[in-house]
Amino acid sequence: MNLIGIEKLVYGVEDLDQCKRFWRDFGLSVSEDDDQHGLFACASGAKVEVRRSDDPSLPPPVVAEPTVRETVWAADSQDTVDIIGEELSKDRNVQIGDDGSVHAVDPEGYGIGFAVTGRIDLPPAKTKYNGPGHETRFDQPATFYEKAIPQHLAHAVFYIQDIEGTPAFYRERLGFKLTDAYVGRGCFLRCGKSIDHHNLFMFQMPDSRGFHHCAFEVRDFHEVFGGGLRMNELGWKTHLGPGRHNVTSAYYWYFRNPCGGAAEYGYDTDRVTDNWIPRSIEPSDGAFAEWSLEEGLGRFAGLQRQVRTVKKDRS
Ligand SMILES: [Fe+2]
Repeated sequence: MNLIGIEKLVYGVEDLDQCKRFWRDFGLSVSEDDDQHGLFACASGAKVEVRRSDDPSLPPPVVAEPTVRETVWAADSQDTVDIIGEELSKDRNVQIGDDGSVHAVDPEGYGIGFAVTGRIDLPPAKTKYNGPGHETRFDQPATFYEKAIPQHLAHAVFYIQDIEGTPAFYRERLGFKLTDAYVGRGCFLRCGKSIDHHNLFMFQMPDSRGFHHCAFEVRDFHEVFGGGLRMNELGWKTHLGPGRHNVTSAYYWYFRNPCGGAAEYGYDTDRVTDNWIPRSIEPSDGAFAEWSLEEGLGRFAGLQRQVRTVKKDRS
């Protein structure tokens, strides 16, 4: 199955205006905005849609609170979408959208969709780092970001109950590949044509289901911190971070999201190919992060972002 990643996350929410403001502040661009919904895009064209939780167009909720109601997966062609539709219709209801997209639910009851991608390839990052022996930036300061512009919608994370059957559904029916696993508890899966470490992480919670977070990659380390500081300044609460993941190597900063769960800025996530050998990782505390702050930087030790008023003086 030629799936390449996430095309769109569709949320059902309580406070539509607040949720729209969250995604604008997070740095997504507004594609559509009316009293029924908001549609937001990152630089790659991957999207987030917010609708009221009682919107009849949404798949049924798995949990009562605001949450992701459908994850739409990006396909390389309509053929891929059609093949998936045929496969899923063997044992579940499949709906076909006006645009040829396919919609169903996974074994946990989470809404899943499949559509031909509108994402674009991103230009190479322009960040120049300096280090001993690999100096790349001369006579100019590094970038300071006033806010983030998320580039790539990389992954979504859900709690599941069936740690055997549900990952098997994604692998055997939809062509996902296993990148790493928390022994007996969680699976990091990537789409068959993706080099992201994971596009879907599922963690077993015997007594509950729910959406945990989605992650957007930004252009460099500095943008993780610039975007995070800006979110704090605008009053959005840190969920966790900044910090650094052990499993994917990425720097992160998570924010509580009124749409449900959290939203993560990330940078320097591992990329993998078919040469990657999946690891079995003990899900101990140390597996999640090398280090992590709990409440952000703006609220940490009284640190405030300083206004930069550096004047260039060539006289
Ligand atoms: Fe994440």
